[in-house]
Amino acid sequence: MLATLAIVSLTGCIGSNQQTPTGNAIADTGGVDGNFIAKASQVPENTIREFTYKGEPAILVNFGGEYAAYLNKCTHQGAQFNESSLVNDRIQCPRHGATFKPTTGEYLGHANGNNFGLKGLSRINITLDNGGIYAE
Ligand code: FES
Repeated sequence: MLATLAIVSLTGCIGSNQQTPTGNAIADTGGVDGNFIAKASQVPENTIREFTYKGEPAILVNFGGEYAAYLNKCTHQGAQFNESSLVNDRIQCPRHGATFKPTTGEYLGHANGNNFGLKGLSRINITLDNGGIYAE
C-alpha cells in the first residue's frame, strides 16, 4: 500500500554530488524510471540526505519522523544544502543562512533575523511503500 508522505512543489536546487548507494548514502535514482530514493531506515530521524531527482540535485529530509523532499537549491541565490544543513529545527542554507521549515519547505527568514520574503523550497512528492521512499 502506498502512503503519501508529502505533497510536492518544485523550486530547484542543484547539487553537484550524485551519490551512489553506499553505506548510509541514498541511491541515485537516475531520474524518472527508478524513482526509488532510499529505504526509510537509511534516513534516520533529523537527518538530510542528497539524491538526484530527474537529473537535478535534491534532498530528502527526515524531521521528527516526517519525510519531505525538495530540489536542492536555496531560493535566495541557489546554493545547495548538504547533510549538515539541518540546524535545530530548520533547514539552513550554508551560504547566507536562509532557513526553511523541514516539513514544508516554507521560508522562515534568515538565521541572523533578516527576512527577505523568499519563496519556499521546491517540493518533490514522495511516497512510502514497504519501507522504501519513492519520488512520484
Ligand atoms: S544562497 Fe542560500 S541564503 Fe543565500
